[in-house]
Amino acid sequence: MAGRSVVVGVGHYLPERIVPNSEFERTLDTTDEWIRTRSGIERRHFAAEDETTSDLATKAAEAALEDASLSADDIDAIIVATSTADLTFPSAATMVQAQLGMTNGFAFDIQAVCAGFVFALSNANALIVSGQAKRVLVIGAETFSRIMDWTDRSTCVLFGDGAGALVLEAQEGEGTAADRGILATDLNSDGRYKDLLYVDGGVSTQSTGHLRMQGNQVFRHAVEKLTKTAETALDRAGLSSADVDWIVPHQANIRIIQGTAKKMGLPMESVVVTVQDHGNTSAASIPLALSVGKQRGQIKQGDLIVTEAIGGGLAWGAVVLRW
Ligand code: UT7
Repeated sequence: MAGRSVVVGVGHYLPERIVPNSEFERTLDTTDEWIRTRSGIERRHFAAEDETTSDLATKAAEAALEDASLSADDIDAIIVATSTADLTFPSAATMVQAQLGMTNGFAFDIQAVCAGFVFALSNANALIVSGQAKRVLVIGAETFSRIMDWTDRSTCVLFGDGAGALVLEAQEGEGTAADRGILATDLNSDGRYKDLLYVDGGVSTQSTGHLRMQGNQVFRHAVEKLTKTAETALDRAGLSSADVDWIVPHQANIRIIQGTAKKMGLPMESVVVTVQDHGNTSAASIPLALSVGKQRGQIKQGDLIVTEAIGGGLAWGAVVLRW
Protein backbone atom coordinates (compact mmCIF):
# COMPACT_ATOMS: atom_id res chain seq x y z
CA MET A 1 0.00 0.00 0.00
CA ALA A 2 1.12 3.55 -0.65
CA GLY A 3 -0.27 7.04 -0.09
CA ARG A 4 -1.09 8.70 -3.41
CA SER A 5 -2.16 12.23 -4.37
CA VAL A 6 -5.12 11.72 -6.66
CA VAL A 7 -6.78 14.42 -8.79
CA VAL A 8 -10.43 14.60 -7.73
CA GLY A 9 -11.32 17.93 -9.34
CA VAL A 10 -10.11 20.32 -12.02
CA GLY A 11 -11.23 23.75 -13.22
CA HIS A 12 -10.08 26.93 -14.87
CA TYR A 13 -10.91 30.55 -15.47
CA LEU A 14 -10.01 32.84 -18.35
CA PRO A 15 -10.64 36.60 -18.30
CA GLU A 16 -13.38 37.82 -20.65
CA ARG A 17 -11.24 39.98 -22.92
CA ILE A 18 -9.81 38.04 -25.87
CA VAL A 19 -7.05 39.72 -27.86
CA PRO A 20 -6.35 38.34 -31.37
CA ASN A 21 -2.87 38.68 -32.91
CA SER A 22 -4.21 41.27 -35.33
CA GLU A 23 -4.56 43.79 -32.46
CA PHE A 24 -0.76 43.96 -32.17
CA GLU A 25 -0.43 44.83 -35.87
CA ARG A 26 -1.85 48.27 -35.07
CA THR A 27 0.89 49.28 -32.63
CA LEU A 28 3.90 47.07 -33.41
CA ASP A 29 6.01 46.06 -36.40
CA THR A 30 4.57 42.53 -36.34
CA THR A 31 2.05 40.35 -38.17
CA ASP A 32 -0.51 37.73 -37.27
CA GLU A 33 1.42 35.42 -39.62
CA TRP A 34 4.76 35.88 -37.76
CA ILE A 35 3.16 35.24 -34.36
CA ARG A 36 1.26 32.17 -35.61
CA THR A 37 4.14 30.54 -37.44
CA ARG A 38 6.88 31.28 -34.87
CA SER A 39 4.85 30.53 -31.71
CA GLY A 40 1.53 28.88 -32.63
CA ILE A 41 -0.35 31.60 -30.73
CA GLU A 42 -3.54 33.01 -32.31
CA ARG A 43 -5.16 34.81 -29.38
CA ARG A 44 -4.82 35.30 -25.64
CA HIS A 45 -6.95 36.56 -22.74
CA PHE A 46 -6.09 39.71 -20.77
CA ALA A 47 -7.45 40.44 -17.30
CA ALA A 48 -9.64 43.52 -16.78
CA GLU A 49 -8.00 46.49 -15.06
CA ASP A 50 -9.58 45.71 -11.70
CA GLU A 51 -9.06 41.93 -11.98
CA THR A 52 -6.08 40.51 -10.07
CA THR A 53 -4.26 37.19 -10.03
CA SER A 54 -6.04 36.09 -6.84
CA ASP A 55 -9.41 36.85 -8.50
CA LEU A 56 -8.56 34.56 -11.41
CA ALA A 57 -7.17 31.94 -9.01
CA THR A 58 -10.31 31.99 -6.86
CA LYS A 59 -12.58 31.44 -9.87
CA ALA A 60 -10.46 28.51 -11.05
CA ALA A 61 -10.46 27.10 -7.50
CA GLU A 62 -14.26 27.37 -7.27
CA ALA A 63 -14.61 25.49 -10.56
CA ALA A 64 -12.24 22.75 -9.35
CA LEU A 65 -14.09 22.42 -6.02
CA GLU A 66 -17.39 22.14 -7.88
CA ASP A 67 -15.93 19.47 -10.15
CA ALA A 68 -14.78 17.58 -7.03
CA SER A 69 -18.17 18.08 -5.29
CA LEU A 70 -16.26 19.54 -2.34
CA SER A 71 -16.40 22.82 -0.44
CA ALA A 72 -13.55 25.02 0.80
CA ASP A 73 -14.00 23.52 4.30
CA ASP A 74 -12.83 20.17 2.93
CA ILE A 75 -9.44 21.62 1.94
CA ASP A 76 -6.35 21.56 4.21
CA ALA A 77 -3.95 23.59 2.10
CA ILE A 78 -3.82 25.95 -0.86
CA ILE A 79 -0.74 26.39 -3.02
CA VAL A 80 -0.72 29.09 -5.68
CA ALA A 81 2.02 28.97 -8.30
CA THR A 82 2.49 32.51 -9.57
CA SER A 83 5.07 35.16 -10.44
CA THR A 84 2.44 37.91 -10.57
CA ALA A 85 0.80 37.96 -7.11
CA ASP A 86 -1.54 40.89 -6.34
CA LEU A 87 0.76 42.36 -3.68
CA THR A 88 4.32 41.84 -2.50
CA PHE A 89 2.71 40.14 0.47
CA PRO A 90 0.61 38.45 1.76
CA SER A 91 0.62 35.55 -0.67
CA ALA A 92 -1.98 35.22 -3.42
CA ALA A 93 -2.83 31.89 -1.78
CA THR A 94 -4.00 33.55 1.46
CA MET A 95 -6.13 35.93 -0.61
CA VAL A 96 -7.72 32.95 -2.35
CA GLN A 97 -8.23 31.35 1.07
CA ALA A 98 -10.11 34.44 2.25
CA GLN A 99 -12.17 34.72 -0.96
CA LEU A 100 -13.19 31.07 -0.61
CA GLY A 101 -14.26 31.75 2.98
CA MET A 102 -11.81 29.17 4.32
CA THR A 103 -10.54 29.90 7.84
CA ASN A 104 -8.65 26.70 8.59
CA GLY A 105 -5.63 25.04 7.01
CA PHE A 106 -2.71 26.91 5.47
CA ALA A 107 -1.90 28.67 2.20
CA PHE A 108 1.27 29.81 0.46
CA ASP A 109 2.70 30.74 -2.94
CA ILE A 110 5.37 29.06 -5.01
CA GLN A 111 7.46 31.02 -7.48
CA ALA A 112 9.19 29.02 -10.19
CA VAL A 113 7.89 31.13 -13.10
CA CYS A 114 6.66 28.99 -16.03
CA ALA A 115 7.66 25.80 -14.22
CA GLY A 116 5.68 26.94 -11.15
CA PHE A 117 2.80 24.51 -11.50
CA VAL A 118 5.10 21.50 -11.75
CA PHE A 119 6.94 22.70 -8.62
CA ALA A 120 3.59 23.29 -6.86
CA LEU A 121 2.30 19.81 -7.76
CA SER A 122 5.49 18.23 -6.49
CA ASN A 123 5.27 20.15 -3.19
CA ALA A 124 1.56 19.37 -2.77
CA ASN A 125 2.37 15.71 -3.34
CA ALA A 126 5.06 15.88 -0.64
CA LEU A 127 2.56 17.39 1.83
CA ILE A 128 0.04 14.65 1.09
CA VAL A 129 2.42 11.71 1.06
CA SER A 130 4.02 12.87 4.34
CA GLY A 131 0.59 13.13 5.98
CA GLN A 132 0.65 16.92 6.48
CA ALA A 133 -2.46 17.48 4.36
CA LYS A 134 -5.32 15.34 3.10
CA ARG A 135 -6.67 17.61 0.38
CA VAL A 136 -4.70 20.34 -1.36
CA LEU A 137 -5.90 22.93 -3.86
CA VAL A 138 -3.07 23.46 -6.33
CA ILE A 139 -3.55 26.55 -8.47
CA GLY A 140 -1.56 28.18 -11.26
CA ALA A 141 -2.60 31.80 -11.82
CA GLU A 142 -1.00 34.71 -13.64
CA THR A 143 -1.56 38.21 -14.94
CA PHE A 144 1.54 38.49 -17.14
CA SER A 145 -0.16 41.34 -19.04
CA ARG A 146 0.92 43.52 -16.07
CA ILE A 147 4.65 42.95 -16.68
CA MET A 148 4.74 43.31 -20.47
CA ASP A 149 6.75 45.98 -22.24
CA TRP A 150 4.16 46.87 -24.90
CA THR A 151 6.89 48.30 -27.13
CA ASP A 152 8.85 45.00 -27.22
CA ARG A 153 7.41 42.89 -30.04
CA SER A 154 9.66 39.94 -29.15
CA THR A 155 7.85 39.36 -25.82
CA CYS A 156 4.50 41.18 -25.51
CA VAL A 157 2.79 39.13 -28.24
CA LEU A 158 3.57 35.84 -26.49
CA PHE A 159 1.93 35.99 -23.05
CA GLY A 160 -1.60 35.86 -21.65
CA ASP A 161 -3.56 35.80 -18.39
CA GLY A 162 -5.54 32.97 -16.79
CA ALA A 163 -5.78 30.41 -14.02
CA GLY A 164 -6.27 26.68 -13.57
CA ALA A 165 -6.68 24.55 -10.46
CA LEU A 166 -6.60 20.93 -9.30
CA VAL A 167 -7.89 19.36 -6.10
CA LEU A 168 -5.51 16.63 -4.93
CA GLU A 169 -6.72 14.11 -2.35
CA ALA A 170 -4.84 11.52 -0.29
CA GLN A 171 -5.90 8.03 -1.34
CA GLU A 172 -4.38 4.62 -0.81
CA GLY A 173 -2.77 2.93 -3.80
CA GLU A 174 -1.02 -0.38 -4.38
CA GLY A 175 2.34 1.32 -4.80
CA THR A 176 2.51 0.37 -8.48
CA ALA A 177 2.44 2.45 -11.66
CA ALA A 178 -1.16 1.30 -12.16
CA ASP A 179 -2.25 3.51 -9.22
CA ARG A 180 -4.17 6.70 -9.84
CA GLY A 181 -2.42 9.87 -8.65
CA ILE A 182 1.04 11.38 -8.80
CA LEU A 183 3.53 8.62 -9.56
CA ALA A 184 6.80 10.55 -9.85
CA THR A 185 8.23 14.05 -10.10
CA ASP A 186 11.50 15.63 -11.25
CA LEU A 187 12.53 19.22 -10.44
CA ASN A 188 15.56 21.16 -11.70
CA SER A 189 16.97 24.67 -11.85
CA ASP A 190 20.19 26.29 -12.98
CA GLY A 191 20.61 29.92 -11.93
CA ARG A 192 23.52 30.44 -14.30
CA TYR A 193 20.86 31.09 -16.93
CA LYS A 194 19.00 33.79 -14.95
CA ASP A 195 19.66 36.44 -17.62
CA LEU A 196 17.81 34.55 -20.36
CA LEU A 197 14.37 35.29 -18.91
CA TYR A 198 13.72 37.71 -16.07
CA VAL A 199 11.79 40.78 -14.93
CA ASP A 200 14.02 43.86 -14.64
CA GLY A 201 12.43 45.05 -11.39
CA GLY A 202 11.24 43.90 -7.99
CA VAL A 203 10.81 44.96 -4.38
CA SER A 204 14.50 45.00 -3.56
CA THR A 205 15.31 47.05 -6.66
CA GLN A 206 12.29 49.34 -6.04
CA SER A 207 10.33 48.97 -9.26
CA THR A 208 7.82 46.62 -10.86
CA GLY A 209 9.81 46.01 -14.01
CA HIS A 210 9.07 44.34 -17.32
CA LEU A 211 9.66 40.85 -18.66
CA ARG A 212 12.87 40.48 -20.67
CA MET A 213 13.61 37.34 -22.65
CA GLN A 214 16.24 36.08 -25.05
CA GLY A 215 13.63 33.84 -26.62
CA ASN A 216 15.87 31.99 -29.04
CA GLN A 217 18.33 31.18 -26.21
CA VAL A 218 15.54 29.79 -24.00
CA PHE A 219 14.31 27.84 -27.02
CA ARG A 220 17.74 26.22 -27.40
CA HIS A 221 17.51 24.77 -23.87
CA ALA A 222 13.83 23.87 -23.95
CA VAL A 223 13.40 20.72 -26.04
CA GLU A 224 16.42 18.92 -24.63
CA LYS A 225 15.74 19.76 -20.97
CA LEU A 226 12.00 19.06 -21.24
CA THR A 227 12.56 15.68 -22.87
CA LYS A 228 15.15 14.71 -20.28
CA THR A 229 13.03 15.74 -17.27
CA ALA A 230 9.94 13.96 -18.67
CA GLU A 231 11.95 10.78 -19.26
CA THR A 232 13.56 11.00 -15.80
CA ALA A 233 10.15 11.28 -14.13
CA LEU A 234 8.77 8.41 -16.23
CA ASP A 235 11.79 6.28 -15.36
CA ARG A 236 11.26 6.98 -11.63
CA ALA A 237 7.70 5.70 -12.00
CA GLY A 238 8.98 2.56 -13.77
CA LEU A 239 7.38 3.71 -17.03
CA SER A 240 8.48 4.88 -20.48
CA SER A 241 7.14 7.12 -23.25
CA ALA A 242 5.29 4.15 -24.71
CA ASP A 243 3.03 4.13 -21.62
CA VAL A 244 2.00 7.79 -21.98
CA ASP A 245 -1.57 8.65 -22.98
CA TRP A 246 -1.15 12.45 -22.86
CA ILE A 247 1.68 14.92 -22.70
CA VAL A 248 0.27 18.06 -21.10
CA PRO A 249 3.13 20.50 -21.68
CA HIS A 250 3.72 24.08 -20.66
CA GLN A 251 2.19 26.07 -23.50
CA ALA A 252 4.90 28.52 -24.58
CA ASN A 253 5.52 27.69 -28.22
CA ILE A 254 4.03 25.05 -30.54
CA ARG A 255 7.47 24.36 -32.01
CA ILE A 256 8.86 23.48 -28.55
CA ILE A 257 5.79 21.30 -27.89
CA GLN A 258 6.21 19.50 -31.23
CA GLY A 259 9.98 19.10 -30.77
CA THR A 260 9.58 17.58 -27.30
CA ALA A 261 6.84 15.15 -28.39
CA LYS A 262 8.98 14.06 -31.35
CA LYS A 263 12.06 13.53 -29.18
CA MET A 264 9.94 11.45 -26.80
CA GLY A 265 8.75 9.38 -29.77
CA LEU A 266 5.10 10.41 -29.34
CA PRO A 267 2.69 11.73 -31.99
CA MET A 268 0.99 15.14 -31.66
CA GLU A 269 -2.30 13.22 -31.23
CA SER A 270 -1.01 12.44 -27.71
CA VAL A 271 -0.47 16.10 -26.78
CA VAL A 272 -3.00 18.51 -25.26
CA VAL A 273 -2.44 21.82 -27.09
CA THR A 274 -4.02 25.10 -25.97
CA VAL A 275 -1.28 27.58 -26.90
CA GLN A 276 -3.30 28.88 -29.86
CA ASP A 277 -6.08 30.10 -27.55
CA HIS A 278 -4.23 31.07 -24.35
CA GLY A 279 -0.71 32.12 -25.36
CA ASN A 280 1.91 31.59 -22.69
CA THR A 281 0.18 31.92 -19.31
CA SER A 282 3.30 30.88 -17.35
CA ALA A 283 2.38 28.88 -14.22
CA ALA A 284 -1.28 28.76 -15.29
CA SER A 285 -0.70 27.01 -18.60
CA ILE A 286 -0.54 23.38 -17.43
CA PRO A 287 -3.64 23.42 -15.17
CA LEU A 288 -5.49 25.35 -17.90
CA ALA A 289 -4.52 22.65 -20.42
CA LEU A 290 -5.52 19.86 -18.00
CA SER A 291 -8.92 21.45 -17.46
CA VAL A 292 -9.54 22.18 -21.15
CA GLY A 293 -8.23 18.72 -22.08
CA LYS A 294 -10.77 17.13 -19.76
CA GLN A 295 -13.55 19.39 -21.06
CA ARG A 296 -12.72 18.42 -24.65
CA GLY A 297 -13.02 14.74 -23.70
CA GLN A 298 -9.32 14.09 -24.33
CA ILE A 299 -8.26 13.28 -20.74
CA LYS A 300 -10.12 10.40 -19.07
CA GLN A 301 -9.84 8.64 -15.72
CA GLY A 302 -6.97 6.16 -15.73
CA ASP A 303 -4.97 7.98 -18.45
CA LEU A 304 -1.24 8.32 -17.89
CA ILE A 305 -0.20 11.97 -18.13
CA VAL A 306 3.19 13.65 -18.25
CA THR A 307 3.31 17.38 -17.54
CA GLU A 308 6.54 19.26 -18.26
CA ALA A 309 7.59 22.91 -18.13
CA ILE A 310 10.59 25.23 -18.35
CA GLY A 311 10.95 28.92 -17.62
CA GLY A 312 12.83 31.71 -15.88
CA GLY A 313 15.69 30.61 -13.68
CA LEU A 314 16.08 28.53 -15.66
CA ALA A 315 13.76 26.23 -13.71
CA TRP A 316 12.23 23.11 -15.22
CA GLY A 317 10.61 19.83 -14.27
CA ALA A 318 8.02 17.16 -14.91
CA VAL A 319 5.26 15.29 -13.09
CA VAL A 320 3.92 11.87 -14.06
CA LEU A 321 0.40 11.18 -12.88
CA ARG A 322 -2.40 8.80 -13.58
CA TRP A 323 -5.68 10.74 -13.92
O1 UT7 B 1 7.57 30.14 -20.97
C1 UT7 B 1 8.86 30.42 -20.59
C2 UT7 B 1 9.82 29.90 -21.54
N1 UT7 B 1 9.79 30.66 -22.76
C3 UT7 B 1 9.81 30.04 -23.90
O2 UT7 B 1 9.77 28.84 -23.94
C4 UT7 B 1 9.96 30.88 -25.14
C5 UT7 B 1 11.00 30.25 -26.01
N2 UT7 B 1 11.25 30.96 -27.23
C6 UT7 B 1 10.37 31.10 -28.24
O3 UT7 B 1 9.25 30.70 -28.13
C7 UT7 B 1 10.87 31.69 -29.52
O4 UT7 B 1 12.26 31.87 -29.43
C8 UT7 B 1 10.20 33.05 -29.89
C9 UT7 B 1 8.77 32.82 -30.33
C10 UT7 B 1 10.26 33.96 -28.70
C11 UT7 B 1 10.93 33.69 -31.06
O5 UT7 B 1 11.05 32.79 -32.14
P1 UT7 B 1 12.47 32.56 -32.87
O6 UT7 B 1 12.21 31.68 -34.02
O7 UT7 B 1 13.43 32.07 -31.83
O8 UT7 B 1 12.84 34.00 -33.38
P2 UT7 B 1 14.08 34.94 -33.00
O9 UT7 B 1 13.97 35.41 -31.59
O10 UT7 B 1 15.35 34.28 -33.42
O11 UT7 B 1 13.79 36.17 -33.97
C12 UT7 B 1 13.77 36.03 -35.39
C13 UT7 B 1 13.45 37.38 -35.99
C14 UT7 B 1 14.30 38.52 -35.43
O12 UT7 B 1 14.62 39.38 -36.50
P3 UT7 B 1 16.07 39.32 -37.18
O13 UT7 B 1 17.04 39.62 -36.08
O14 UT7 B 1 16.19 37.93 -37.72
O15 UT7 B 1 15.98 40.41 -38.22
C15 UT7 B 1 13.34 39.24 -34.50
O16 UT7 B 1 13.67 40.62 -34.37
O17 UT7 B 1 12.08 37.73 -35.73
C16 UT7 B 1 12.03 39.07 -35.21
N3 UT7 B 1 10.87 39.20 -34.34
C17 UT7 B 1 9.64 39.51 -34.76
N4 UT7 B 1 9.19 39.82 -36.01
C18 UT7 B 1 7.87 40.09 -36.13
C19 UT7 B 1 10.80 39.00 -32.99
N5 UT7 B 1 9.55 39.20 -32.56
C20 UT7 B 1 8.80 39.52 -33.65
C21 UT7 B 1 7.44 39.84 -33.84
N6 UT7 B 1 7.03 40.10 -35.08
N7 UT7 B 1 6.55 39.84 -32.83
